[in-house]
Amino acid sequence: ELSPIDKAKFVAARRAADYVQDGMRVGLGTGSTAAWLVRCLGEMVREDGLRFRGVPTSSRTAALAREEGIDVVGLDEARWLDLTIDGADEFDTELNLVKGGGGALLQEKIVAAASDQMVVIADAAKEVAHLGAFPLPVEVVPFGWRTTQALVTETLEAMDVLGREITLRMNGSQPFVTDEGNYILDLHLGRIGNARQLAMVLNQMPGVVENGLFIDICDTVIVGHGDGRIEIRD
Ligand code: A5P
Repeated sequence: ELSPIDKAKFVAARRAADYVQDGMRVGLGTGSTAAWLVRCLGEMVREDGLRFRGVPTSSRTAALAREEGIDVVGLDEARWLDLTIDGADEFDTELNLVKGGGGALLQEKIVAAASDQMVVIADAAKEVAHLGAFPLPVEVVPFGWRTTQALVTETLEAMDVLGREITLRMNGSQPFVTDEGNYILDLHLGRIGNARQLAMVLNQMPGVVENGLFIDICDTVIVGHGDGRIEIRD
């Protein structure tokens, strides 16, 4: 039997899988919730004859999708997508998101931006009144990352953004390296006042590749609960 948290993720993923129809090109997210989706879609391919092409947002998701028998294509082969289904670390009432807890925010944002629709699947614990309790991931190039970190710190101080600790994401004793060969800084902000402004400011900085704020990108959130209930926000 599934734990309540896994059940919540599973029921959200199961419902989202019904959005996928024959002939579609679909972005496949990254993380534990998205993994449930990929497994559901694999079952639909094998057992119901569903035919679609999947564009993975990480090497991890690509490997799982292939194992599941999904027809995997690259983004540039697909060019535009009908739909992307992905998890999130936080979502607010306006359906703005924090993503990147799994380190795949860059590919996730590129794929979501290339999609007609983005559907997020999440357990109810991801819903927040204000984004920012979850540390905001920012992908930076390894060259001069300490200098970039200092620039981010100075800029956040000047903007008077609450909380200021910025940590380099680690993988054991080494920096965590993304699929694109970059590092991740986790910004412990506590509460993000103006997410739109922060997203723009961060992406203006030399050394910053992308940030985990998804503003005006998500169309629908499917919220799963531990007792199997589902709510749809759009
Ligand atoms: C991956 O980089 C993230 O954006 C994930 O979508 C996010 O961390 C959600 O992961 P879980 O579904 O494992 O909570």
